[in-house]
Amino acid sequence: SRFHALVPAAGSGSRMGSARPKQYLELNGRPVIAHALAALARDSRVDRLVVVLSPGDEWWETCDWSSWGERLQVLRCGGATRAETVLNGLEAIAGWCGADDWVLVHDAARPCLPAGALGRLIDSAAHDPVGGLLAVPVADTLKRADSESRVAATVPRAGLWQAQTPQMFRHAQLRDALRQAGADMTDEASAIEQLGLRPRLVECDSRNLKVTYPQDLRLASLILEHLNG
Ligand code: C5P
Repeated sequence: SRFHALVPAAGSGSRMGSARPKQYLELNGRPVIAHALAALARDSRVDRLVVVLSPGDEWWETCDWSSWGERLQVLRCGGATRAETVLNGLEAIAGWCGADDWVLVHDAARPCLPAGALGRLIDSAAHDPVGGLLAVPVADTLKRADSESRVAATVPRAGLWQAQTPQMFRHAQLRDALRQAGADMTDEASAIEQLGLRPRLVECDSRNLKVTYPQDLRLASLILEHLNG
């Protein structure tokens, strides 16, 4: 079975506070999403790269994609939530994507995916019937807040991981899981978990950050210089 990447890019990025959605902000001379796609493309086992835009996206065309060729496919069927965007994308590729092909869902806003981590995630498929995701063990002490922002409890961090992307599952299984799950799932693994399955955690690190707030762009810029330099 083959490996494909699916990149949901239909978010508006409201926490960034800019008119331009965060996946299109400039980072070291290219839009954020171009870095995310390039990181996926670097692994030759990734067959096709499918980007899912919102139907009204006016930014994609303003970037230069001329060197990408057939490997890059663009769909304009993004939905109101990330889960909806991913499900719409999976339905749209069902014509050519095998039911057992692996789909690696990767955030357009994660530009610094290290090549080694992507390789380990893909390698893990060989031994795994379910699939898995990149994740990082929680480093900070965790507090649960009450409604007045006072500490209600300290949550033991042992065994807790932060989920990242890519998240890699088989096409038909992920599509069925997302059809059954609510639209409020914030990652693919939670939909798979609702089927009673247990995705594998593949360790990554904090370089694979999601650009969410303006200061994240400066950090991402430095990380990219080290990753590629
Ligand atoms: O907003 P958040 O940081 O969780 O978005 C993660 C990824 O999901 C981004 O790449 C964003 O473009 C995408 N997304 C989407 N459709 C939505 C909301 C978010 O494709 N409706």
